[in-house]
Amino acid sequence: MSRLGLTRRTEIVVDAPASSANVGPGFDVFAIALDFPFDRVSLSVKGDGLKILLEGVGREIIPTVVKDNTAGVVALSIMEDFGINSGLEIKVTKGVPVGMGLGSSAASAAAVAFGINKLFNLGLDNNSLVLYASKGEVASAGKPHADNVAASLLGGFTLVRSYCPMDVMKLDPPENLGMCIASPVISYGAKKTEQFRAVIPKLIELDKLVKNVGNASALVSAVLLKDLKLFGRSLNDTVVEPARAKLIPGYFLVKEAALKEGALGVTISGAGPSMVAFFDKNLCDGKAIGSAMCESFNKAGVESSFICTSPGKGARVAI
Ligand code: HSE
Repeated sequence: MSRLGLTRRTEIVVDAPASSANVGPGFDVFAIALDFPFDRVSLSVKGDGLKILLEGVGREIIPTVVKDNTAGVVALSIMEDFGINSGLEIKVTKGVPVGMGLGSSAASAAAVAFGINKLFNLGLDNNSLVLYASKGEVASAGKPHADNVAASLLGGFTLVRSYCPMDVMKLDPPENLGMCIASPVISYGAKKTEQFRAVIPKLIELDKLVKNVGNASALVSAVLLKDLKLFGRSLNDTVVEPARAKLIPGYFLVKEAALKEGALGVTISGAGPSMVAFFDKNLCDGKAIGSAMCESFNKAGVESSFICTSPGKGARVAI
């Protein structure tokens, strides 16, 4: 492909949000962008080649070698395909905690895909942006899963109908949907997502497939109908979550405690180990749910912290 001309812009700063993937039955398909936290990524046309700089919490465990870095892999892939030879410096300021199941690598990948598209005026559509950003996930998860990057790029509730060809859609979640995310402090070492993917069954029984298709379909209906109760009772995953629950100490206690405090439903956020409780902001205090979740992690012998947030916007030029 021939090189496209540079616009007059030589620098861009992009914010891309954290996300909570799978949303119960939608493994590798559903995700929700979070209003908070987010990564800030600045891209400057300067120097020679591609350079990655890291700032913020968790930067010490992220590789800066371009081909091992999520943002670097995405940038390389786009620049190679479009014959872009200019030097590019990418500074990633991490706001999304690393290794917690909040789409940290995806936020950086989404920001880079979004930023390069704008900076070099490439005219990539949403499906192409998601495809490029998903390549970055190989660096951290071993597979180019697109659920987190779709949410980080497009915002709201997203679903990946197909990976090949990439076909992604975005829906607006109900306005009163609140999310409380409790994150246990557990060290799973490097490549946590890869480990959490390794325990997933390779084959599933037909009755489990039927249950998951039912719940996934109902979850999308709940988003469209703005029916929070239906949303809550559709969060069940009978395939992936039972396998991963064993890796999260206190999983059942945390779930029970959040439901007792009025949560609509509770599930693992992405690959975990964070757990996300959904609640109706008009009816319920998210902080009480979060405290109850952390108390339960504590009972299971694990320290934890929580945030209350809401579905939010996708990648955007920072102000
Ligand atoms: N769908 C991915 C997984 C999300 O569950 O492994 C990882 O954040």
